[in-house]
Amino acid sequence: MLHIINGPNLNLLGKRESSIYGNKTLDGIITECQALCEKYGIAFSSFQSNHEGEIVDYIHKNIEKKTLCIANLGAYTHTSIAIRDAFLASKSVKDFTLIEVHISNVYKREEFRHKSMIGNISTAIMTGLGPEIYRIATIYGIELTLGKQII
Ligand code: DQA
Repeated sequence: MLHIINGPNLNLLGKRESSIYGNKTLDGIITECQALCEKYGIAFSSFQSNHEGEIVDYIHKNIEKKTLCIANLGAYTHTSIAIRDAFLASKSVKDFTLIEVHISNVYKREEFRHKSMIGNISTAIMTGLGPEIYRIATIYGIELTLGKQII
């Protein structure tokens, strides 16, 4: 199972600060990732919320054993102990891979974006490749799940 979780303001992709985040909409991005997963027979689920508690609830309910989770928590990346704890709680009972992603290169931006609450509990951090980052992370997830290269 591959999950993509998006946090606050990412529902505005395509309209929001396009010089930083590009022109693709979140729907367009998710449709592409879902199609890739379907092509390779991987179950797919996507969730976006602007509310911290809803993201915590989604993690509690949906992160299962043998899950790969691609997470762009937006600004909650830098602040949310609650979401970090939800991932830790899941990790202690389940075996899942967490990939932190960002569209922009957070290390080239304001200092408050340099801190991640989930960086040191993630398997990997991908930052700064633009909206294509979701597709690239999904390809990684598919290859990890299948145990072989697909491209
Ligand atoms: C972001 C970077 C965050 O600092 C910011 O708050 C976002 C988007 C990114 O994808 O580049 O909302 O996660």
